[in-house]
Amino acid sequence: MDKSPLGTCKTTHKQLIAWVEKQTKLCAPDHVFWCDGSDEEYGSLCDLMVRIGTLTRLNPQKRPGCFLARSHPSDVARVEERTFICSNTREEAGPTNNWADPAEMKQRMVGMFKGSMKGRTLYVIPFAMGPLESPLCKIGIQLSDSPYVVVNMRIMTRMGKAVLDKLGADGAFIPCMHSVGAPLAPGQTDVSWPCQTNPKNKYIVHFPEEPSIWSYGSGYGGNALLGKKCLALRIASAMARKEGWMAEHMLILCLTSPRGKKHYIAAAFPSACGKTNLAMMQPSLPGWQVTCVGDDIAWIRIGEDGRLWAVNPESGFFGVAPGTSMKSNPNAIATFAKNSIFTNVALTPDGDAWWEDSGIPAPATAIDWEGNPWTPDCGRKAAHPNSRFTAPAAQCPVMDPEWQNPKGVPLSAILFGGRRPSTIPLVNESFDWEHGVFMGSSCGSETTSAAAGQTGVLRRDPFAMLPFCGYNMDDYFAHWLSFAQRTDRSKLPKIYFVNWFRKDASGRWLWPGYGENSRVLKWICERVEGTAGAQKTPIGNLPTAEALDMTGLNLPSDSLKTLTSVDIAGWKKEVEDVAANAAKFGTHFPKALSEQLDQLGRRLA
Ligand code: OXD
Ligand code: MN
Repeated sequence: MDKSPLGTCKTTHKQLIAWVEKQTKLCAPDHVFWCDGSDEEYGSLCDLMVRIGTLTRLNPQKRPGCFLARSHPSDVARVEERTFICSNTREEAGPTNNWADPAEMKQRMVGMFKGSMKGRTLYVIPFAMGPLESPLCKIGIQLSDSPYVVVNMRIMTRMGKAVLDKLGADGAFIPCMHSVGAPLAPGQTDVSWPCQTNPKNKYIVHFPEEPSIWSYGSGYGGNALLGKKCLALRIASAMARKEGWMAEHMLILCLTSPRGKKHYIAAAFPSACGKTNLAMMQPSLPGWQVTCVGDDIAWIRIGEDGRLWAVNPESGFFGVAPGTSMKSNPNAIATFAKNSIFTNVALTPDGDAWWEDSGIPAPATAIDWEGNPWTPDCGRKAAHPNSRFTAPAAQCPVMDPEWQNPKGVPLSAILFGGRRPSTIPLVNESFDWEHGVFMGSSCGSETTSAAAGQTGVLRRDPFAMLPFCGYNMDDYFAHWLSFAQRTDRSKLPKIYFVNWFRKDASGRWLWPGYGENSRVLKWICERVEGTAGAQKTPIGNLPTAEALDMTGLNLPSDSLKTLTSVDIAGWKKEVEDVAANAAKFGTHFPKALSEQLDQLGRRLA
């Protein structure tokens, strides 16, 4: 590594060089390192982190090329209350985002970053979201003092030299500042996971008008891998609104029938509702196949044919480990068998990773995610509930052949869903685009550990975008509605609401989920083709008893009935709750959505 600010810099982009120089002066690192994204660079940074204790190499016989990282216990999830959208006015950020005045916040950020990298190396990380040749591809340059961030960004994004080449001498890039906020005094010994341990000192800040991102104090996941939630969702959603496309919190999959007919489906579920599991599911229905385009984010534009086309801007998976097993997601297990990074899982005596609900019996002893000795009866979890694997998408055995197609894939259907133990049926087809947008806007889920805060309460999460929409949610709803005017509405995907998480009165799951969800996807594709039956109900079109393929599944008929009928009393409460939530939105909540709510209320009366 070179001490000069330009070190191994391989760009002629004057504006980029000047920006890196300016930020280097501000952050005062000991070294500057321009990442080229090569295997050698990745390997040597992993070796460096093994030496300083940030990473532990897992047993190469069991998990070749894999590492374990343990974060600081205060730095384990996205910090939504410390996430800011600094648009010009509070109104533009809307009622669901934390807003701060952009000039004041910029000043504060500059103050926090001043000298923040002392004693450390500043890594220049050129990255692209989306295939480099895609019309939607966006380039970011992240400056970070965390080598852990560099290696994770290498997996999650297209990173390095090819990006600088694409940028050329004057291409546009989104500046992304990141510091763990832990400068080292001369001679001071480093810790294995430097960060700001006081949550109030963490800042995840977005300036959508510039656009730029400044993230301070955290080294974990979506707080620090700035291509993902910060750029590909918050900043991209604001750009998408201006440019006429959509940046969504959606997986993308392809369902292929035994006759070879393919349908691409995008699905938005709030965090930790099983998006990764669904995205690479093994259908239980014989002859049906699911292939994966992406598990978390979809960028969607209107194609020349008037249909909606989706690309996955990422190139890896940053999935929740606990609960991932051969039963819930065999393809994820194969994906992270090698060349992956595990964060905050347990370490077994034979040097492997382990977590709760992995389907693998607990080891007699282990080292838990905090680095302490652990036994199954010690009363603590071995892995943090939000522990993660970072794994290259290319290693997933069921990646769709089109997953890197710069044009994307054409969508037949869009799904919304959440964890809803009561009321919401297994699957519900919207009457039209506006009704579908209403369904998306009323999305909600029981909270989980993906974000810091209370778990197990119903949180309304419109379009699963509540923590990720980079502008006023009212305008976001209007943007969605506008697609019925931007293209021929008959070309738009059909919209569905699904719920795999319904429980009976005694708290037992009514639906087996996982590979059995293929039965629902099959019905959806047959509806798109116009071959499956449905009953029109006050809430939408539900499958008729014969229309869902139940062969080989011994589901009690009562359960199926509950899953596919309308609980009128429950829905009346749902309408009240959705209305109460809609009242929290701003001054320009679209009339079309209030009308949808009124119409639903009238249909239920
Ligand atoms: C994620 C999330 O990590 O949505 O994908 O929280
Ligand atoms: Mn997500």
